[in-house]
Amino acid sequence: IPVDPFDLVIFGGTGDLAQRKILPALFRRFCAGQWPQQVQIIGAARAGLDRQGFLGMVTESLRTYAENQCRDASALSAFLQRVDYVALDGLSDEGWDQLAGKLTADRVRAFYFSVGPSLFGPLAERIKSHDLATQETRIVVEKPFGHDLDSARALNATLAAHFSESQIYRIDHYLGKETVQNLMAVRFGNMLFEPLWNSQYVDHIQITVAESVGIDGREEYYERAGAMRDMMQNHLMQLLCLIAMEPPAKFDPDAVRDEKLKVIRALDPVKPHHIVRGQFEGGAGNPGYREVVGNRRSTTESYVALRAHVSNWRWAGTPFYLRTGKRLVARSSVINVMFKDAPHSIFGADAGRHANALSIRLQPNEGITLKVTIKEPGQGGMRLVDVPLDMSFAEALGPESQDPPDAYERLVMDVIRGNQTLFMRGDEVEAAWAWTDPIIAGWHARGDVPKPYDIGSTGPGDAELLMKRDGRRWQGIN
Ligand code: BG6
Repeated sequence: IPVDPFDLVIFGGTGDLAQRKILPALFRRFCAGQWPQQVQIIGAARAGLDRQGFLGMVTESLRTYAENQCRDASALSAFLQRVDYVALDGLSDEGWDQLAGKLTADRVRAFYFSVGPSLFGPLAERIKSHDLATQETRIVVEKPFGHDLDSARALNATLAAHFSESQIYRIDHYLGKETVQNLMAVRFGNMLFEPLWNSQYVDHIQITVAESVGIDGREEYYERAGAMRDMMQNHLMQLLCLIAMEPPAKFDPDAVRDEKLKVIRALDPVKPHHIVRGQFEGGAGNPGYREVVGNRRSTTESYVALRAHVSNWRWAGTPFYLRTGKRLVARSSVINVMFKDAPHSIFGADAGRHANALSIRLQPNEGITLKVTIKEPGQGGMRLVDVPLDMSFAEALGPESQDPPDAYERLVMDVIRGNQTLFMRGDEVEAAWAWTDPIIAGWHARGDVPKPYDIGSTGPGDAELLMKRDGRRWQGIN
């Protein structure tokens, strides 16, 4: 659906995120015909570039990150005509009049803060003091949204001093992923699953976001954040919310976000023995975490696994096991809903235990597998065997589904459309920090040191124990 003409200002326009994600996403939507011609994209940054210099930089990035679309030289040049640049300092008034002169009246005006959180306040203030904010103004902010509850509250207060909540778009790019939205479609579009989606039928749920990449190039940030702040507090908690929430009355921003917030608020504090932290160790010529960050004593975790409980009517007694880590055996994000055994086996003890499991693969190789039990073929009596009912979205929906729009394409377009459903509300972010903070404080108080794990493994052995103690085991990462 094409959007109305808009002006989009990207503060930090020369930065990594803008060049790698935001501008390529905009270009792809442009090529898909989702924009009218009059759109204007303005990169704003401190770098003393002129428009030509910026366009050169953008061209390079698009060639790298939107390679296919770039083959069409006329599309590239038409896109670049819509791109402009202002040298501007968020901490002074320099460049702001020039920016004001470029903006168009009476259309959606989005300001993308692709900068560190310390600039959110100064930028918001200057947008206001230079009279750039209109009714149709939207502010987009990236994670990390704060470092803890206090800093998130302070950021929310800073933004709220200048803009209303309906103007603020806090990005968690996982919510823009096609398959993550599909979680809601699977749950609420099928009659099949929802009646079983509770503690009576579900034994436990596993959420795994494994990455094979490390933290190269982001050492300084990561060393302060760790897996808990970088992934668990936001992406994994959002997945947990979508899996655990009650059906919203409609697919609208506040209905969805109200339900997610209730899940976060229903989370019990995590017990120390229900958390495992890990840090990857060097070997076979690969540097370990401590070498990568240049801190031999670092106690930052590059892996975390924990057992969470959503204490409400639906989920009382059903554990949620969450894990995420860097430099693991594979890149794989999967949610496994593990159902309980049948209450009674009519086939006797020899038939073994067979429980259904629903695996929702978010990336890569998106799809759904349902493990069902059938009779083992042959004459050997009534022996049971598990088989997968496997659906790969690429196979079921055709090649187009193999290349779904990048999360940023959807999210940026949703900002322009004014749809906040896939963005985090201020209270959600604060509630997530309120749950995370005591966990991190506990580590500091106890002087906790992460357990080493091998590069290319599934994480530290203690994470296996976390499950084993409960008589369960992690599903494989592949
Ligand atoms: C980011 C984290 O938010 O998400 C990174 O800061 C992580 O550490 C990335 O690598 C993972 O995103 P994706 O889309 O590759 O799963």
